[in-house]
Amino acid sequence: MHLHLLLSVLASATAVLAHKHHSRDLVLSDNDTSPLVKRDVQAGGACGTQANNAVCAAGLCCSDTGVCGTGGGFCTAPACQLSAGPACDGNQTPAGADTSNVPRPLFGSIPYGVDISHCSVNGKVAITFDDGPYLYTAALLDILKNNNVTATFFVVGNNGAKGMINNPATGYPATLRRMIADGHQIGSHTWSHQDLSLITAQQRRDQIVKNEIALNDVLGVIPTYLRPPYTHWTQDGLNDLKSFGYHVLNYDIDTRDWQGDYNVAETTYSTILSQHSPSSSSWISLEHDIYNTTVHMFAQYIIDAARRLNYQLVTVGECLGDPASNWYRNTTTGQPVDMNVLRANVANGGSSNGSGSTGTSTSTLTQASTTSTRSTASKTTTHTLLATALAVNGNTGANTTTTKARTSTAASATASSTSKSGGTRSVVGAGMGVAVVALIFAAFL
Ligand SMILES: *[C@@H]1O[C@H](CO)[C@@H](O)[C@H](O)[C@H]1NC(C)=O
Ligand SMILES: *[C@@H]1O[C@H](CO)[C@@H](O)[C@H](O)[C@H]1NC(C)=O
Ligand SMILES: *[C@@H]1O[C@H](CO)[C@@H](O)[C@H](O)[C@H]1NC(C)=O
Ligand SMILES: *[C@@H]1O[C@H](CO)[C@@H](O)[C@H](O)[C@H]1NC(C)=O
Ligand SMILES: *[C@@H]1O[C@H](CO)[C@@H](O)[C@H](O)[C@H]1NC(C)=O
Ligand SMILES: *[C@@H]1O[C@H](CO)[C@@H](O)[C@H](O)[C@H]1NC(C)=O
Ligand SMILES: [Zn+2]
Repeated sequence: MHLHLLLSVLASATAVLAHKHHSRDLVLSDNDTSPLVKRDVQAGGACGTQANNAVCAAGLCCSDTGVCGTGGGFCTAPACQLSAGPACDGNQTPAGADTSNVPRPLFGSIPYGVDISHCSVNGKVAITFDDGPYLYTAALLDILKNNNVTATFFVVGNNGAKGMINNPATGYPATLRRMIADGHQIGSHTWSHQDLSLITAQQRRDQIVKNEIALNDVLGVIPTYLRPPYTHWTQDGLNDLKSFGYHVLNYDIDTRDWQGDYNVAETTYSTILSQHSPSSSSWISLEHDIYNTTVHMFAQYIIDAARRLNYQLVTVGECLGDPASNWYRNTTTGQPVDMNVLRANVANGGSSNGSGSTGTSTSTLTQASTTSTRSTASKTTTHTLLATALAVNGNTGANTTTTKARTSTAASATASSTSKSGGTRSVVGAGMGVAVVALIFAAFL
């Protein structure tokens, strides 16, 4: 075993432990006065595992501490107890056509329902951003555009009480359409970031399908790439993902940006790239666009470092050699999409039938996809209000919820080495999902 690999394993194990013990959710104060912040309101009544699985009344959520209520502190995924809180983020259903009966032929040459941790086209780095869209995602799109870089976004439909991604009031539909217009790839990271290995089969399927409904409502297509939250799954989960026609995307560089130590993140990333030759290696790197520093500092670093080391930045599909039409599924035919139609959909600010909840955000989209200056300006109001709320309240207030769903990471903290023509590589952090859940209880609703 290479020393490098050994060190990586130790560093990864340390990271998992550190996360388990130091994770802290960012919580807005209950007495915040911003109209954008959905306040916690305790309704009373014990629920969930703390109360013989008692279920809260309709419209209420069950916090991880077993109390019924509304607001981010009660409703946010994954802490909200799905089986006891009817209004948990994860139990909400987006508007839009049901996609569960879309045909799912397994087209293309990339395998479905199996762990894909590595790219296959040498000289490429696919940077991937999980858990958004969120407050900083539009700014990240500006940064990527300024650098002429494309990336992949594994989006979560309704998490951290951020609002459903197909609700135009959140601004997220326009951001998602701009991703397509700018040449990025969108994959699913499920509806509400539950650990797929810890929920029922029905809940697992709901997590897959609800995110499809929301994405189809915004884009008129559904993705064929999915990264399970925490990169945790069971064989049943993989079988489901295959039957729903998904490539299961892992990663082989874990920058652990969520830990907030960007010196470590930078070293992790550039060490791996510099110790391998672009002529015989390619990489899938994990980042999260829900962190301001990842967007405003680290994104530029990972772009510059990859280019300095002669790698080209591409989407996940490109680094697997998969044509763009295969990254999405036509919800009418089940077949690969016509990218010209998809581009026209997003340019028109609507989905394939030009209706649905997409209509009201057309003007935002037009600004976003035609002039980036206008796009930035159009986001400023919301961004500033929320940023102010965060700055004022970020370190105060409500309960620090623990991510109890994250107790088994150490067991999966296995690293492996795989060889492919051209050399041996180390796998850092693959399969060690990170509990990155922005419990920033700002709702746009
Ligand atoms: C936070 O803690 C307070 C005091 O223990 C409790 O009344 C309230 O219900 C808790 N909120 C949540 C979301 O668990
Ligand atoms: C932007 O990137 C594309 C794809 O890598 C490349 O073909 C094009 O020349 C680049 N444009 C500029 C201005 O660098
Ligand atoms: C989906 O298929 C239908 C029927 O062939 C076609 O009219 C439509 O343009 C396709 N949409 C996309 C995005 O490929
Ligand atoms: C078509 O329009 C209906 C009605 O507004 C909407 O519910 C549905 O999601 C749309 N279908 C697609 C594929 O966008
Ligand atoms: C995000 O980072 C930028 C650049 O450092 C800073 O100007 C901005 O205030 C930050 N926003 C928040 C909400 O912290
Ligand atoms: C919340 O209210 C308390 C008591 O009025 C006050 O001291 C505190 O500064 C407030 N917090 C915020 C974030 O406004
Ligand atoms: Zn995630």
